[in-house]
Amino acid sequence: MAKTIFGSLVLAVVLKLATANPVAQPAITSAPNLLEKRAASCTFSGSDGAASASASQKSCSTIVLSAVAVPSGTTLDLSNLEDDTTVIFEGETTWGYEEWDGPLLQISGTGITVQGASGASLNPDGARWWDGEGSNDGKTKPKFFYAHDLTSSSITDLQIQNTPVQAVSINGCDGLTITDMTIDNSAGDSEGGHNTDGFDIGSSSNVTIIGANVYNQDDCVAVNSGTDITFSGGVCSGGHGLSIGSVGGRDDNTVDTVTFENSEVKDSVNGIRIKASEGDTGTITGVTYSGITLESISNRARYGVLIEQNYDGGDLNGGDPTSGIPITDLTIENISGDGAVASDGYNIVIVCGSDACSDWTWDSVDVTGGEDYSDCTNVPSVVSCST
Ligand SMILES: *[C@@H]1O[C@H](CO)[C@@H](O)[C@H](O)[C@H]1NC(C)=O
Ligand SMILES: *[C@@H]1O[C@H](CO)[C@@H](O)[C@H](O)[C@H]1NC(C)=O
Repeated sequence: MAKTIFGSLVLAVVLKLATANPVAQPAITSAPNLLEKRAASCTFSGSDGAASASASQKSCSTIVLSAVAVPSGTTLDLSNLEDDTTVIFEGETTWGYEEWDGPLLQISGTGITVQGASGASLNPDGARWWDGEGSNDGKTKPKFFYAHDLTSSSITDLQIQNTPVQAVSINGCDGLTITDMTIDNSAGDSEGGHNTDGFDIGSSSNVTIIGANVYNQDDCVAVNSGTDITFSGGVCSGGHGLSIGSVGGRDDNTVDTVTFENSEVKDSVNGIRIKASEGDTGTITGVTYSGITLESISNRARYGVLIEQNYDGGDLNGGDPTSGIPITDLTIENISGDGAVASDGYNIVIVCGSDACSDWTWDSVDVTGGEDYSDCTNVPSVVSCST
């Protein structure tokens, strides 16, 4: 049964007093224990709901956010949750407008269960910030959701629409499963959405994203570092495809065991892309792309498969590829993209440093429509840049 409280511990105290056994718990020792009894369920709503929920993080085992209107320039901050807390979004969550870095939402903790109720949406109304410049220039745009430092946690059924810039940042997580998340920034195609990455993943392990739907204008998924990351059964539309990197030049430059499988990439600039920064050091190993369908309805890809060790901020404009970030044990198999690439785009681009790409598996890769790239470099023998 849901109870409504607004930012005080009164309910928790009342529950404790109501259930305390005065014989077993002498008054003199009961005060510290008052905080131990968490209210079963607390519901927060309206314009003070975010502040009240933040203030009550330790006192509710289930936090229901019902049509919360987060004031401008503030974070809906649930980064100090007790272990095993459940967070449920109901109705439409909205955010006020301000030019700042964000994030608009942050959730951290251990054993956390985050759920979107039926019909719930998280709507930061990003069009108010969109100016075609993304994070490069123009208005300062708040990042949307920091899913940071989540351990053994899950996020299910969140419907996110129109983020100002990057949508979901996953960092410092160990054991996070995200199921059936929708990030719909499709309005940004015509209204100036830019750098609206779906999932940016760094320094995390055991992260699984299942059944995501991402409509955006930048990477659908970008793994900058991390181990045991899986993206499965997803749909990516309008953006820059399924990416590793860019890797290099950060604190953590190791990508180990990442799988993209049984997913569809449509109307996107790239299908598959691995970017290793020129002149930096790091590791990209154990990456698998399997069962990826590239489809083009309105926009055809500029690159079907793009793997480069000379990334310097733009595609195909780097210098000589370098070998400081080897790409080893890479599997690209069962890729279907017949006619998916634009006629002036390239089907397969591979630019490797000397001895820096090895132990690759390449099987049933059918990506056509564009040109063959003639400057492929140090290509492993199992691969051909000619299609
Ligand atoms: C990975 O994370 C999931 C979800 O939290 C958990 O159930 C599983 O035990 C974890 N696996 C490992 C190897 O840590
Ligand atoms: C190839 O990928 C498609 C699309 O995900 C999938 O339906 C099919 O089962 C895969 N086939 C094999 C042999 O893995």
